[in-house]
Amino acid sequence: MFSGGTDTSSVLLLWTMAELLRHPEVMKEIQEEVRGVARGEAIITEDDIEQMHYLKAVIKEALRMHPPVPLLVPRESTENSKIQGFDIPAKTTVIINAWAIGRDPVSWDEPDKFKPKRFLNDATTSNIDFMGHDFQLIPFGAGRRGCPGIQFAITIVELALASLLFKFDWALPNRVSGEDLDMTETPGIMCHLKSPLLAVATPHF
Ligand code: HEM
Repeated sequence: MFSGGTDTSSVLLLWTMAELLRHPEVMKEIQEEVRGVARGEAIITEDDIEQMHYLKAVIKEALRMHPPVPLLVPRESTENSKIQGFDIPAKTTVIINAWAIGRDPVSWDEPDKFKPKRFLNDATTSNIDFMGHDFQLIPFGAGRRGCPGIQFAITIVELALASLLFKFDWALPNRVSGEDLDMTETPGIMCHLKSPLLAVATPHF
């Protein structure tokens, strides 16, 4: 519970911030939404988040491109099955590549591009969600052994991201441009950014 519940959410927040720093136009739009909804308030509340549709789309897009647990958790099949012509005998260790599924050009237009609006106004992808019903997007797995912490994780990440964007303006240091940001991933059960993400925060009043 502890390892599944801490690193995962912070890694998602990091990847989301990295993508926003690479895409200042998206950062600007999402900040307009957050600051518009929470205008005059001291802190962001869960009620505010419900009106932040672009923020939710940005987090979804980050989960599609950077699932924090890219190969989910290895599982063992309980009975003989056939999937898309492949025989999977009982007791086979099955590893599901959620990273590759999220970047599959069969399901996603320009899969390597960070385009959060695909979850807002694209007829084919706007209804896709990560709750385990749409197999094109399974960063939390699916079925009986899917992540039980989805709701908690998403609430925390939405609140943290909205608060960071509400209270601060963000930029890359030393005039580094977004294209130069090192997006190399680390191998392992968790997919971290290889280089630490450095960003300059300026308070917004
Ligand atoms: C962005 C955050 C998170 C991501 C991406 C994530 C992802 C995952 C994935 C991929 C699995 C395996 C699913 C499968 O094999 O089908 C999993 C399982 C699990 N997660 Fe999460 N998780 C996150 C947050 C959390 C949080 C906040 C908690 C607890 C508070 C949590 C607790 C667990 C537990 C206990 C399991 C094992 C479930 C089982 O085997 O029955 N996770 N998670």
